[in-house]
Amino acid sequence: MAKKIDDIFNNISVIPVLSLNNLSDSINVARALINGGINVMEVTLRTDYGVQAIKEIKSSIPEIVIGAGTVTTPYQFESAVEAGADFIVSPGHTKELLKLAYESNTVTLPGVSTPSEVMVAMEFGFNQLKLFPAEALGGINFLKAIKGPFPELKFCATGGITINNAYKYLSLSNVFCVGGSWLTPNRLIESKSWKDIELLALEASNLLEE
Ligand code: 3PG
Repeated sequence: MAKKIDDIFNNISVIPVLSLNNLSDSINVARALINGGINVMEVTLRTDYGVQAIKEIKSSIPEIVIGAGTVTTPYQFESAVEAGADFIVSPGHTKELLKLAYESNTVTLPGVSTPSEVMVAMEFGFNQLKLFPAEALGGINFLKAIKGPFPELKFCATGGITINNAYKYLSLSNVFCVGGSWLTPNRLIESKSWKDIELLALEASNLLEE
């Protein structure tokens, strides 16, 4: 049976967002995150390696919860599901993508950045959404304001989140998680600094336990 959104996000409050320029790094990054106490990651389809990386990570480390990010087309959506992605994240949405997500019963966080987009996502039954780009939209103030008309919605805020503001976002009642690339910066991946990625993950895990 397909997993439900709550089964996946129940114990997840930070999602590292990863864009790979090299396939051989994917398992090392995943292991570094797990060693640092984070067992989830979102691999974006911004580079050519995304789908294959999801497949390889999932087969080597089946216990990791893996999402496909920056999914913008039905083809990408279907390729990511086939590769074993546990969930799908999109920076925005189209009706076609929302319909596919709904009909395929795939856990999906459609991206929104305006109240109108929120309303379209709600028409398809989505009440957990990605807010992107959170900081540029007004961050905490935006989320507080949007709670008025949409009190039942929960957001995963991404775009400009760091270790310094993650906690503030997570303290809002309409934020269920945050995501960001700060845990897996390209400079650390390029220099193969797995221990440093592990330390960033540990720092985030510790912050969240406080
Ligand atoms: C995403 O797709 O969620 C964002 O690109 C992450 O944004 P960030 O790089 O500002 O963390």
